[in-house]
Amino acid sequence: MDHFLYRDGALFAEEVPVADIAAAVGTPFYLYSTATLVRHFRLFDEALAWGPHLVCYAMKAASNQAILKTLAAEGAGMDVVSGGEYARAKAAGVPGERIVFSGVGKTREEIRLALEGGIRQFNVESEPEMAAISEVAHSLGAVAPITVRVNPDVDAKTHAKIATGKSENKFGIPIARAREVYAEAARLPGLKVIGIDVHIGSQLTDLAPFELAYRKVADLTGVLRADGHEITRLDLGGGLGIPYTRSNEAPPLPGDYGALIQRTVGHLGCEVEIEPGRLIVGNAGILVSRVIYVKNGEGRDFLILDGAMNDLIRPAMYDAHHEIVPVTEPEVAVELRPFDIVGPVCESGDTFARGRLMPPLAAGDLVVFRSAGAYGAVMASEYNTRPLVPEVMVKGDHFAVIRSRPTFDDIINRDTIPEWL
Ligand code: LLP
Repeated sequence: MDHFLYRDGALFAEEVPVADIAAAVGTPFYLYSTATLVRHFRLFDEALAWGPHLVCYAMKAASNQAILKTLAAEGAGMDVVSGGEYARAKAAGVPGERIVFSGVGKTREEIRLALEGGIRQFNVESEPEMAAISEVAHSLGAVAPITVRVNPDVDAKTHAKIATGKSENKFGIPIARAREVYAEAARLPGLKVIGIDVHIGSQLTDLAPFELAYRKVADLTGVLRADGHEITRLDLGGGLGIPYTRSNEAPPLPGDYGALIQRTVGHLGCEVEIEPGRLIVGNAGILVSRVIYVKNGEGRDFLILDGAMNDLIRPAMYDAHHEIVPVTEPEVAVELRPFDIVGPVCESGDTFARGRLMPPLAAGDLVVFRSAGAYGAVMASEYNTRPLVPEVMVKGDHFAVIRSRPTFDDIINRDTIPEWL
């Protein structure tokens, strides 16, 4: 459930008409609902209320300071995957002891930054990385808390580009080698082993792959404890999917997911961490765009929008489906017509939907892409020198621009000219 609903024939974000924000900010822009964000975070927090836990928001999904501060105020931890994300989490006031550091390629500089600023744990992805973390920690006179990310060789049954838990993926250490790697971790001077980490992919719409993976983690916990390791924390990753259509799609709910976690690892007495991104922010954000032209092509009609693939890359990159709806509510009896919905960028990949049934729309009308909050703004670029799309946040009956649209001069002045020119 989200807070983008039609009321009196117009789309509202909580208590604010979307058209009013478009008039004030210009299009395209991302728009987030505070109430939806908070609701989704609390669903996870409540789903794990049966035991000690921390919900670490995977901020790669949407990392605006206003979003981070909203979630941090709810008690969220953060899952970061770069020095930049670490700095963003700290700038939003998240204490180091609530930040976990994931990712296959943490550099020594990033490791140092996190150790100096405080870190809950590093999720280690390889032996060379483990050695580097130990070395940096040792040189600082510190001890780095770590989990090792194991690759359970489970098929997440999601889009190939976002599956991470099969042995052919670059992520984690093969679970069969875990004992060896943990033994090595125990020998290294700068590390303290505290637990196990697993993450098998994103946009999972079935709990079965989670169950397979978590049972493997539970078994491994027993094996590693028998080897003498103190396993007190399990980081179970993110990945729970969201509905991208309003039809019959009904992915499992956070409550079902929490119950599954309790069933599979609840008996181990570990603190549980999860790293959801998409489910928290996906349906808490929309992309608002305006029709520039309606173009009648040969055998097909195009809606040309002012939003493009550089603003929302998911359809071009993952063939992702986003619902696209007008801001003015269509009459119930209105006749729908198929349109190819495209942006102005100069390549055919800049297509959001083909043959999408839409109500009649004219140049100047506003449309929104639903479910665009996760992996939307953060994956935007300035391709075609289109200014980075701004972000706006609504809370109740007020809204604020939380990242403004750069001017052309802002963009151009980021370049520097060599002295010989
Ligand atoms: N933890 C780790 C280690 C991850 O790699 C990810 C996502 C998450 C947590 C959060 O997963 P979520 O709960 O959001 O599914 N750009 C793609 C999705 C990439 C996901 C990458 N890792 C998309 O737009 O579908």
